[in-house]
Amino acid sequence: MKILVVGGGPAGRIAAIEAAQIGEEVTLFEKEYLGGKCLNHGCMVTSGLNDVARFIKDSQKFNEMNITTKIDDINFQNLSKGIKNIIAKIRRVEEAETKDAGVEILNNTVEIINQKNKEVIVNDETYQFDKLIMATGSRGYIPPIKGSENAKTYTDVLEFKDVPEKLIIVGSGVIAAEYAGVFSALGSKVHVLCRNSFLRVLEEDVKKYVIKKLLDEVEIHENLKVNEIKQNGLTSDKGFMHGDVLLATGMTPNSEILNGIVDIGNNGEVLVNQRMETSARDIYAAGDLVGGVGTTPVARMEGVVAARNACGIITEADYRFIPNSMSLYYDITFFNQNSTVVDTNIIEGSIPGFAGPGAFWRVLDRNTGFTKVKVNQESGEIRDVTSISPSARTSMAYISKMMRDDYKTYDFDDFMEAHPSTDPLYKLMRFFARYG
Ligand SMILES: Cc1cc2nc3c(=O)[nH]c(=O)nc-3n(C[C@H](O)[C@H](O)[C@H](O)COP(=O)(O)OP(=O)(O)OC[C@H]3O[C@@H](n4cnc5c(N)ncnc54)[C@H](O)[C@@H]3O)c2cc1C
Ligand SMILES: NC(=O)c1ccc[n+]([C@@H]2O[C@H](COP(=O)([O-])OP(=O)(O)OC[C@H]3O[C@@H](n4cnc5c(N)ncnc54)[C@H](OP(=O)(O)O)[C@@H]3O)[C@@H](O)[C@H]2O)c1
Repeated sequence: MKILVVGGGPAGRIAAIEAAQIGEEVTLFEKEYLGGKCLNHGCMVTSGLNDVARFIKDSQKFNEMNITTKIDDINFQNLSKGIKNIIAKIRRVEEAETKDAGVEILNNTVEIINQKNKEVIVNDETYQFDKLIMATGSRGYIPPIKGSENAKTYTDVLEFKDVPEKLIIVGSGVIAAEYAGVFSALGSKVHVLCRNSFLRVLEEDVKKYVIKKLLDEVEIHENLKVNEIKQNGLTSDKGFMHGDVLLATGMTPNSEILNGIVDIGNNGEVLVNQRMETSARDIYAAGDLVGGVGTTPVARMEGVVAARNACGIITEADYRFIPNSMSLYYDITFFNQNSTVVDTNIIEGSIPGFAGPGAFWRVLDRNTGFTKVKVNQESGEIRDVTSISPSARTSMAYISKMMRDDYKTYDFDDFMEAHPSTDPLYKLMRFFARYG
């Protein structure tokens, strides 16, 4: 069977590898860079910047304590160059891994899909398919604000000539928060402008910790309307603000190529069922293209599900307890529960993080993190977990797996930590196991 995959980001690349490993003949088309947004403009760029931002923050702390001098002469162009070089190296590794799995990679743009003839057109050449997996991802959403072409987006960040003196971020989600944390640490005076409230995905106590302890030097303006973006700043209903403007206003799925072929939702997302089947026979879709959570692990999972179903192995995507995260000086992890179930047996507990790697020197600032757990005290069921700590990302992924596998608080009674660690989750779980 011939399987064509369009888009070499996390969804498409992993779909292609899965289908090839199952034994099918697979061709993957990528119009720009293998690895997609995650590797080339998103997760990896933020990781690279954030490592340096944390290093600067640590140097400030150690300087205050007369341990070392402070590092504040950032060469932003060299920082960008370093990140780009590492990304290029990872890309080569991903390319080798994909080819080794048996995938043919073509560096081309798929221009037209002809569903009736089961073919795609690339540079006037036609490629036949039995099954087509679409994973064209998404791009930054540009809101209809006058002068928005004067603003930068995440794709421009590594092209900055220097650390901006004043950075105005329009948006109130994860990207706005992450760039606020990074550029504030690198020395910019950062303002975040939110049309409603900042970080609506977080509960109030968690949000309060983030603003007070992790974005303490950032000015956050809520309920503010931006009227016009200019080259040297923007005007809002509170007047003119001078600085470089960065838009972090969400994503738009790259679904135009499928217009008239598959059903598409109101936000441009391709509509799929849990097998990642679109409304058109033999066409599957995965990743940011289908909307929803919008993270790399979800895109990869959907890619695997699309590939398996395309190969005749019935599989469904499982969206329970998807760990979401955000990188500031510490990582913040949370679930998007949105549960409407009323459960009167729910109790919650929260504790600050521990001293230990990544947080030891913050003990006197009372900035070691914050972890909160909600459980059903009758059944021991773990209902929600939010964590701010140096180790939150790693522990949350395992907690997510345990929650999916229906572990209860009492399963933690004999939990053995590796000490020293900054993960306070197990302490809360053990507390609930004994006294909940
Ligand atoms: C700034 C930023 C930071 C982020 N940080 C994180 C993070 O820390 N953790 C996390 O989990 N997620 C993060 N994300 C989200 C993550 O990057 C995306 O969810 C993920 O990349 C989606 O994967 P995808 O394969 O669906 O799409 P994409 O990564 O967008 O890949 C789609 C690919 O399809 C290609 N393509 C499009 N059209 C065609 C065509 N016609 N022909 C051929 N190729 C085509 C594109 O060139 C692209 O390479 C971040 C996103 C951004 C913007
Ligand atoms: N660590 C990670 O896993 C990670 C990191 C970065 C990005 N990502 C993913 O990347 C995607 C994009 O992130 P994002 O932060 O840009 O998107 P987001 O979380 O969808 O947030 C978009 C923000 O833009 C605001 N907005 C939309 N239109 C606007 C307008 N016209 N004027 C002013 N504000 C406007 C929204 O405000 P309202 O809140 O008022 O609606 C919202 O806060 C998300 O799917 C995210 O999950 C993940």
